[in-house]
Parts: sequence; structure tokens; C-alpha cells
Amino acid sequence: MPAAVIIGAQWGDEGKGKATDLLAGRIDYVVKFNGGNNAGHTVVIGDEKYALHLLPSGILTPGVTPVISNGVVIDIEVLFQELEALSARGVDVSKLRISANAHVITAYHRTLDKVTERFLGKRQIGTTGRGIGPTYADKINRVGIRMQDLFDENILRQKVEGALDQKNHLLVKVYNRRAIAVDEIVTELLSYAERLRPMVVDTALELHQALERGETVLFEGGQATMLDVDHGTYPFVTSSSATSGGAATGSGIAPNRIDRVIGIVKAYTTRVGSGPFPTELFDASGDFLRENGHEFGTTTGRPRRCGWYDAPIARYSARINGVTDYVMTKLDVLTGLERIPVCVAYEVDGVRVDEVPVSQSDFHHATPIYEEFAGWSEDISGARTFEDLPKNAQDYVLAIEAMSGARISAIGVGPGRDAIIARHDLLD
Ligand code: GDP
Ligand code: IMO
Ligand code: MG
Repeated sequence: MPAAVIIGAQWGDEGKGKATDLLAGRIDYVVKFNGGNNAGHTVVIGDEKYALHLLPSGILTPGVTPVISNGVVIDIEVLFQELEALSARGVDVSKLRISANAHVITAYHRTLDKVTERFLGKRQIGTTGRGIGPTYADKINRVGIRMQDLFDENILRQKVEGALDQKNHLLVKVYNRRAIAVDEIVTELLSYAERLRPMVVDTALELHQALERGETVLFEGGQATMLDVDHGTYPFVTSSSATSGGAATGSGIAPNRIDRVIGIVKAYTTRVGSGPFPTELFDASGDFLRENGHEFGTTTGRPRRCGWYDAPIARYSARINGVTDYVMTKLDVLTGLERIPVCVAYEVDGVRVDEVPVSQSDFHHATPIYEEFAGWSEDISGARTFEDLPKNAQDYVLAIEAMSGARISAIGVGPGRDAIIARHDLLD
């Protein structure tokens, strides 16, 4: 029985939530290993639509044990709100396990996220404003607060004091904001402790034991490869490791335990926030993708930037993550286009470049070299086998597969749970 990782291969919102849901019936544990409530996963089950932020999407499947592992940053109030909202809709959330080593997002992280963005002005990242960056900065800077600190008032107070010491100078003197009182933070965090206590465990040990028993563990990545702090379009990235390697460091499960890496790609590309995006469209085609694909953020409601499929990015993701299988989502959104351009390489300063350039400045002014494919007009949302697809849609998928560095094992043709064409077993 395998351990598998799901990762976003582009700039997020590829449909990772739906892909997790697709596999959830076959897994025992689902683990969120990076990011926090910057993520937004929409899962449609029948007439019900769920939006998950901090909890892994797999929580929707009865019997699966959901885990928030050490690589995640947790806004505890958001956690409770999400648990309550799901409970109210009949989802069993009682099995949730949270790592004692996961870091806590506090009010000062949220404040710093917003004020630093404002301060950056035109250079802003366009963060989700959830305090993600400042919380990871504290983690790396060794002044973070971890879940386990909530169970020791003395330690908690010392750590909050340490963290606020510098930050209050910054808030008051640089950003012209009010200082944050240590007591305010400590009191709030302590008020969560009793409710959290039964959930907070050694998740690395529990996951290891599950794998030893032969159970199946699915690691569910938030964000995506091009937003990864090491491998993405830095500095226009999130602050965590969203690539498959992050599943190991973010959970304490060794890389050699991971058998499958499932990359999720959209049949086109979207991005939220600032940063380079070579195939971005500013014309009616962009509007077509945004309207047809309902490309508005699950977390912030922001309209997503839209563009054509970028094959060098898919190849890059295949390499960085070791993708064994791709799930291509939203093929149905392309229905009705006469011609569908696909970026096969870039031109940088008059020179053809076949792979994602290592220099960020080059990537910023890379212009796509397109190959065009014939579109289709038939409704494909009812297709359940590859052969059900019109010939032109089949050709589009096969051409993309040949350029993307891994086989395309499933194809999404609609938001619903069953709107999928399976070509190969994702776990085998
Ligand atoms: P995630 O962050 O990667 O989980 O993706 P989001 O949930 O933010 O965005 C993906 C959106 O596309 C969601 O609204 C899904 O319901 C929807 N979706 C997923 N797969 C498909 C598909 O194959 N076709 C269509 N039309 N929508 C899809
Ligand atoms: P899912 O998991 C798309 C983007 C933000 C911003 C940058 C940094 O739903 O795919 P942050 O708040 O993380 O510091 O913002 O990253 N971003 C996402 N874009 N999907 C996401 O998550 C994202 N999470 C963060 O828009 O550009
Ligand atoms: Mg999303």
C-alpha cells in the first residue's frame, strides 16, 4: 500500500481538492503538509459544495483520518470555524490529528502580513493576508510559537515576549501601528488549549505506524510548484515548500516511503497575485477562460489571471516533484474555442529557450512560443472514457502529454466528483 503525494504543478487552484476527493475512498490518512488557510480547495459532491482552507480535502471522506502535520501554519480560530462549519453539515471531524510541532499564526502575524504588503506598494506580492509569510519567517528565525507551547503557560509567555520584543518596535516605529500586548496574545492562545489537547499528537509517529501497518497515506499539497519558496517564481511565491519534497520535511515521513507523486495541472494556466506569468492573456480569450472556468479565488474572491497551457512549466514541475502521474483538470473549460495555443518554449531576448529560465529577470520577459491545436465544440462534460472525447480533444491531451514530462492519467471534465476520465490507476 503506497504513500502518495498530490501537488499543484502550476500556480495553484489546479483542482487539487477534487483530485484528493477522487482518491479518498482508497486511503486511510490524508495529510496537509504545508501552507495554511491561504489555500482554498473547492470540492463538489453531488449538489453539495465545500470550501476547505486549513483542513485537508480528504476530511470529507468518511473513515479517512485527517492530519495537519508539522509543515503547516495554523490559525486556530480559523481551524475551529472550519471544524464547526463541517460538523454542522454532517462531516465527521472527530479524527483530526494535529502535529505538536506545527506553528501557530497569531494576530501579530496577520497584522504584519497586511502592513508589509501595504509598505511594498507597487512591489507587493499580493498575499492572501492570512499571516502565512510572517509565521514561516518566525519559524525559520527560531522565534515561532508551536502547538505544543500552548500547553505550557510559562514557555508560551516567554516565547510570545521574545517574538513581540522586536516586532512591537517595528509595528510602532516603522509601520505606525499600535503595539501588541503580550497578555492579549497569551490569553487568546491559552483559551484554545483544552479544546486542542486531544487532537495534538506526534503525527510523524502516527503516520509512520500507519505505513508500517500497510495503510495508505495521501499527502495533500497546498499552493503549487511555481509558488514554492525554493522552486517557484521567487519572491512572488508563498513561504512554504509546496513541492513533493515538502511532504517529507513537512510530515516527518522519509522520502523513500513515498511511492507516487501525482501532479495536478489545469488544461490552461491561472495565477492569483503578482509575479511573472508568460502565457497570461489580457484579451477576450483571457475573459473566456475566466468566465467559463469560474476563475475567481476560493479564499479571497480575487479574479484569477488566466492564460494558455505552458508546457515548459509542466516539464519543470515533473522534474522538481518527480511526478509519476498527471491529473489534467478543466479540459471542459476549453470547449468552444476554435484554436487552442499551447506554449512549447519561450523567446528570451531573441533566443529560443526550451525550459523555464533559471534567471528570474529572463522569466519576467520571456515571451511564449506557441503551437496551435484545433478546438472542439461538443459538450464533453459527460465523457467518462478517453474514447468518449472528440478527436480534437484527444489530440490536445496526447500532444500535451508528450510535452509535459509525465503521463496524463486522469482528465477532469467538470467540477463534480464523477466528472473525470480515468486512464491509468493513480496509485499503481
Ligand atoms: P485547488 O486549490 O487546487 O484545490 O483548486 P480550487 O478549488 O481553488 O480551484 C479549482 C476549481 O475548479 C474548483 O472550483 C473546482 O470545483 C473546479 N474544478 C476542478 N476540476 C474541474 C474540472 O475538471 N472541470 C471544471 N469545470 N471545474 C473543475
Ligand atoms: P491553493 O492551495 C493560488 C498566492 C497568493 C500570493 C502568494 C503569496 O488553493 O492552490 P501567501 O498568502 O501564501 O503569502 O501569498 O501565493 N497563493 C495562492 N495562489 N492558490 C493558492 O492555494 C495560494 N496560496 C497562496 O495569491 O500571490
Ligand atoms: Mg485553490
